[in-house]
Amino acid sequence: MTRGKFVTFEGPDGSGKTSVIQAIFDYISIKGHSVYKTREPGGNGSVIAEEIRELILDVRHTNMDPWTEALLYAGARRQHLTEVILPQLVQGSIVLCDRFVDSSLVYQGVARGLTIDKVKELNKLAVQGNMPELTLLIDVPAEIGLERIYRAKDNRQFDRLDQESLEFHATVRDAFLSLAAEEKRIHIIDGNQALENVIEDCIKVLKQHEIF
Ligand code: TYD
Repeated sequence: MTRGKFVTFEGPDGSGKTSVIQAIFDYISIKGHSVYKTREPGGNGSVIAEEIRELILDVRHTNMDPWTEALLYAGARRQHLTEVILPQLVQGSIVLCDRFVDSSLVYQGVARGLTIDKVKELNKLAVQGNMPELTLLIDVPAEIGLERIYRAKDNRQFDRLDQESLEFHATVRDAFLSLAAEEKRIHIIDGNQALENVIEDCIKVLKQHEIF
């Protein structure tokens, strides 16, 4: 039996998830609860999953087949789940995970065109029912997400964005929103506001769901 709580965070690139999760981790820790922060692809505490991460995200691997990619994400996820997440839940921790199955449904299923149904089947094998009880989707418009990424990386301005990345980001955002409309587990958080307000909104939802 697991005693802990499993919460995931999703959102397009540039949604600010990483800062939000760190702040929530600090908040819950200060309250004295046992909390564990991890992220995908890879996972805090799994050497095997981290090695798969390196393989997937290696910029030299431009010829990776989309199904190879989906299988590697699912493989890394399985290892991360069994080696890190489940043992933490058994110990009673609140596990905060940056990305999980929903990212594969959106990026591989929709954006790469493998279809949600097939990627869902694949991930069913990987997680075997161990889905999060709550997922916070940090939602930002594609333009805002991209602008943040470009500003963080090389101070490039939004008007120099190519249309292709804007379309890709818009597809990802829409796919996350459609998923949220279907899944009660997923709660949309407005990520297009000051960081402290995003954090506040997340904490409100976590409390409503008695995560801590
Ligand atoms: P992430 O580490 O969240 O990006 P960053 O911290 O640089 O913002 O994720 C890396 C990329 O991996 C991101 O573009 C989304 C992608 N991804 C998938 O395509 N499928 C998946 O199942 C996961 C977990 C991530």
